[in-house]
Amino acid sequence: MLYPRFSVMLFMCLFIAQSIAQDTRSLQMSIMDGYQFQCVNTTCLPFATVSVSDIRDCQFMCLSNERCRAATFHQSISACELFANASSNVTLMFPQVQTTAMLVMPDTRTRSYSYTMFEVAITYSVGYVPIPVFVTDTNNDNKSDIVVGNYNSNSIGVLLNYGNGTFAHQVEYYIGAYPFGLAVRDINGDNKPDIIAAIQNTGYINILLNAGNGTFLPPTNYTSGTSPLSVVVADFNNDSQPDIAAANSGSYTVSVLLNAGNGSFPNKTSYSVSTTPRSIAAADLNGDGKIDLVAANSGANNTGVLINSGSGSFLSQVTYPVGQTPYSVAIADLNHDNYPDIITANYNSNTTSILFNTGSGSFLSQVTYAVGALPYFVAAVDINKDQNIDIIVANSGSNNVGVLFNTGTGSFESQVTYSVGNDPHSVFVSDVNYDGKLDIVTANSGSNTVSVLLCK
Ligand SMILES: *[C@@H]1O[C@H](CO)[C@@H](O)[C@H](O)[C@H]1NC(C)=O
Ligand SMILES: *[C@@H]1O[C@H](CO)[C@@H](O)[C@H](O)[C@H]1NC(C)=O
Ligand SMILES: *[C@@H]1O[C@H](CO)[C@@H](O)[C@H](O)[C@H]1NC(C)=O
Ligand SMILES: *[C@@H]1O[C@H](CO)[C@@H](O)[C@H](O)[C@H]1NC(C)=O
Ligand SMILES: *[C@@H]1O[C@H](CO)[C@@H](O)[C@H](O)[C@H]1NC(C)=O
Ligand SMILES: *[C@@H]1O[C@H](CO)[C@@H](O)[C@H](O)[C@H]1NC(C)=O
Ligand SMILES: *[C@@H]1O[C@H](CO)[C@@H](O)[C@H](O)[C@H]1NC(C)=O
Ligand SMILES: *[C@@H]1O[C@H](CO)[C@@H](O)[C@H](O)[C@H]1NC(C)=O
Ligand SMILES: *[C@@H]1O[C@H](CO)[C@@H](O)[C@H](O)[C@H]1NC(C)=O
Ligand SMILES: *[C@@H]1O[C@H](CO)[C@@H](O)[C@H](O)[C@H]1NC(C)=O
Ligand SMILES: *[C@@H]1O[C@H](CO)[C@@H](O)[C@H](O)[C@H]1NC(C)=O
Ligand SMILES: *[C@@H]1O[C@H](CO)[C@@H](O)[C@H](O)[C@H]1NC(C)=O
Repeated sequence: MLYPRFSVMLFMCLFIAQSIAQDTRSLQMSIMDGYQFQCVNTTCLPFATVSVSDIRDCQFMCLSNERCRAATFHQSISACELFANASSNVTLMFPQVQTTAMLVMPDTRTRSYSYTMFEVAITYSVGYVPIPVFVTDTNNDNKSDIVVGNYNSNSIGVLLNYGNGTFAHQVEYYIGAYPFGLAVRDINGDNKPDIIAAIQNTGYINILLNAGNGTFLPPTNYTSGTSPLSVVVADFNNDSQPDIAAANSGSYTVSVLLNAGNGSFPNKTSYSVSTTPRSIAAADLNGDGKIDLVAANSGANNTGVLINSGSGSFLSQVTYPVGQTPYSVAIADLNHDNYPDIITANYNSNTTSILFNTGSGSFLSQVTYAVGALPYFVAAVDINKDQNIDIIVANSGSNNVGVLFNTGTGSFESQVTYSVGNDPHSVFVSDVNYDGKLDIVTANSGSNTVSVLLCK
């Protein structure tokens, strides 16, 4: 009974072509206002449900995603459902107020709905030359706070979230030395996040334990190596305790500090890598259940992959060439094969490199994309919640953030940029105002600020 109506609706389809001021490309889809898809069976469940502002963003979201064949926009809840398998074969339509069903027409794909995605950045003053930034709830009020390492102020700044996506002035913890890398994680099992900082000039990992009331105690120090610039926290020996790994840029090593179980780190093991490792990331690369490491060796223009051989010890690195002077590395599955891939920001090539995982923890030759000037930091997050991991770079020479949207297959659109403060050195993606959409936070070392880009 519904099929005839569907045919009628298709016949009556309104083909729209809207021009958008900021973009000469047009949107074309067949629109069925007042209808939604009804799946005959579960093979046409939406592959993603995205929170969007309006129907236009829903259209852009679908048209920019190669997997998307159709979408339903639910006006009352500003939700956009994306379907991969919707077609006249497998779907029916049924009337539904405040809903609009849309089908992709052949050859009408468009790139990037996203230029309108973020508000103008809000900036907050912090200390001198902020370099690393991390966003998490530090005081257990369920609101994401900003933690920043103020390199030239020799301090860690914590900006508490008011709960509406705005932040209080930083509370500053002086550590007497130059923080360059940062992680914020509970390392002593009290369910309160602690601050783990890589201190460039002292060669220490500083741990600032959470006092339990959202303030932080003076640092405990662990020797890491010469000029540690980056830390990552993960369980390397499968004892359910978070361990620490650091990239020591001056000793050309990666150090691994295993947690004794009480948040102390009595043992350190160092592994040689190539010249000037600046950044480190951790994930299970070969599917054996053990967390492996990847270092961005900035002086050697490669990444070093260190496979975990069990109980938290690592094999010698295997290197893969990337662009010039990789300053940052991230790990995420970009192409839906369930194998995590490697992404770098190549400071002197103005590119990002992707190394696709073959499945065994070895990697194919790099694929590169142009980004802005002097990319300092890279994150890999599904920023538009379409179930595809996107790439976000801090372009330190362009004073902006570049977002490269995944087309759904592990290939990427050209970057879309959003202005932030001067010389951004790091970026963190988090929903800071609890609207279900992911926001971007940067540390701007040239303007002594952090910028918050709220997703519209
Ligand atoms: C689409 O259909 C195919 C075959 O029925 C199925 O394997 C696939 O998972 C479906 N994709 C989605 C996103 O539902
Ligand atoms: C509908 O099904 C037929 C036969 O299974 C197939 O050839 C055709 O490609 C399908 N159409 C769409 C739009 O998926
Ligand atoms: C889903 O519906 C389609 C079209 O009616 C049919 O071809 C397919 O076999 C069904 N799949 C399942 C898992 O029931
Ligand atoms: C935070 O969220 C948890 C889990 O939802 C809840 O139990 C707790 O009461 C919340 N705390 C505050 C301060 O809202
Ligand atoms: C957010 O909350 C703070 C503290 O309650 C308030 O001062 C500020 O005006 C609020 N901002 C917005 C945009 O609502
Ligand atoms: C701990 O580290 C900080 C900064 O790295 C340094 O200033 C301080 O002297 C160290 N404390 C001890 C006891 O070594
Ligand atoms: C938090 O706890 C620490 C350690 O117990 C204490 O020194 C500090 O005064 C407390 N701060 C607040 C704001 O309660
Ligand atoms: C540290 O090393 C000692 C001696 O090898 C060993 O007994 C101990 O279990 C290690 N501790 C951790 C936390 O790995
Ligand atoms: C943590 O455990 C280690 C090894 O058992 C021990 O040497 C150390 O004193 C403990 N530290 C604390 C703070 O309890
Ligand atoms: C990790 O430990 C769990 C039990 O705590 C075990 O089930 C799992 O097999 C271990 N994984 C590896 C890779 O050893
Ligand atoms: C890495 O790239 C830089 C250019 O940024 C170049 O000067 C250097 O020779 C390269 N190093 C190696 C080991 O290839
Ligand atoms: C990267 O961008 C900077 C600033 O625009 C420029 O000076 C430099 O030549 C660019 N490098 C490459 C390899 O294009």
